[in-house]
Amino acid sequence: MKKSKEVLVSAVVVAAGKGTRMHMDKNKQYIEIGEVPVLARTLLTLQKCGRVSEIIVVVNSQDIVYCKQEIIDGYGLYKVKKIVAGGETRQNSVYNGLLDVSQNCEIVLIHDGARPFVREESIEESITAALEHGASCVAVPSKDTIKSADENGFVSGTLDRKALWMTQTPQTFRYQLIMDAHKKAIDDGFDGTDDAVLVERLGFPIKLVMGSYDNIKITTQEDLILGEAIADSREYYG
Ligand code: CTP
Ligand code: MG
Repeated sequence: MKKSKEVLVSAVVVAAGKGTRMHMDKNKQYIEIGEVPVLARTLLTLQKCGRVSEIIVVVNSQDIVYCKQEIIDGYGLYKVKKIVAGGETRQNSVYNGLLDVSQNCEIVLIHDGARPFVREESIEESITAALEHGASCVAVPSKDTIKSADENGFVSGTLDRKALWMTQTPQTFRYQLIMDAHKKAIDDGFDGTDDAVLVERLGFPIKLVMGSYDNIKITTQEDLILGEAIADSREYYG
């Protein structure tokens, strides 16, 4: 077996959404938190991780030039090998990124551009787990009790909290496995909200990796307030 250092790990960072829940004129990827744009923060952390060899960034086609100048060149993101155009859904965007990784890529780490506070340990641990098990997903145990509801807005059940995890990214896979999973989803017309679900559909086990509660996805306006607080706390406590 190869040592993990010899394995080529590619990161695909998806940032090609519309950010509709943010209700801002500016795409949420380019909003500054603690004076650094969300996407630049995300990419700087991935770049710092020695095991990540290359990064493919997926953005809206009309943002490619802006992203190259302001984010990639502006923040010295030398590990970014390509900027590619995204698709209609997150799954389409991930697939476009997967098509552009280096030919000898063995492990691919998929991460949301909108999760700028990912910790280096989570990146490391998700790669280690994917090398060992083939597929891994960073997640945190649910703190809240989760209920299901019917179409009239009444509770239809209470799920067992002990068994519930809130998934985040990175989600990391052997390259061939995630490609097979995407191809099957395309054949079946299945659209998933994360990558792990596509691998679950193949019946393949996915190792959960403990994440951190501050690896938030910048989705709505409140997340900008939280984000400023997290950025501040990192300056003091790392
Ligand atoms: N994403 C993408 N391509 C899409 C949709 C989403 O690359 N067609 C990316 C987003 O840019 C984001 C990540 O997937 O980094 C998670 O998606 P989400 O938080 O839902 O972002 P948006 O789709 O942009 O936001 P919204 O759903 O509010 O429109
Ligand atoms: Mg979305």
